[in-house]
Amino acid sequence: MKTVAITWWIISALIVVRSEGEITSDFSENQNKSLQLILEHFHNKDHIKNGFKVSDILKSIEVDYSSGVFVNLEFALKQTTCHKTHRTKTDCELVKNGRTFNCFACFKFSYNSPKILSQLIDCVNILQVDSKRTNRRNQSCKEVELKKGSEKVGSYSFLTSQ
Ligand SMILES: *[C@@H]1O[C@H](CO)[C@@H](O)[C@H](O)[C@H]1NC(C)=O
Ligand SMILES: *[C@@H]1O[C@H](CO)[C@@H](O)[C@H](O)[C@H]1NC(C)=O
Repeated sequence: MKTVAITWWIISALIVVRSEGEITSDFSENQNKSLQLILEHFHNKDHIKNGFKVSDILKSIEVDYSSGVFVNLEFALKQTTCHKTHRTKTDCELVKNGRTFNCFACFKFSYNSPKILSQLIDCVNILQVDSKRTNRRNQSCKEVELKKGSEKVGSYSFLTSQ
């Protein structure tokens, strides 16, 4: 029993030590871009003073549609000792018993422009994630996923002119 407990402790310690870059090393360009947008959005909030780090990836989906690329991410964010303006520094330690947020986000990127067709970003304290919220996120995310780009005027105008 004791060795099991010790082994588990070592595994947990290793997990905590893994850096954000390693966690997201298999992310695509679109997923990386999404992650940066979410982190910016999160840290722009006035009530967030500290920098937070990604500690766990819960979901990372990317689907190519003819209307654009859909990305859905869900991850945990842990509070660090750094102020948010220094959050990208490598020596930002996690706060013991610090706050943990859960971020859920969906994006629909256009292929031929930097424009984002639709997006949903929802970062809340992990305690606020209940089934009601999960359902609401799921529904809103579906709408983002199915969002179509505005038709190009040149090629479609003759179809829509009355
Ligand atoms: C996404 O970011 C991670 C972490 O910085 C990096 O390891 C990975 O190569 C990036 N993926 C792409 C496609 O650039
Ligand atoms: C969202 O809802 C659909 C159907 O209602 C379900 O199949 C899917 O697993 C749900 N996804 C999540 C993330 O809850």
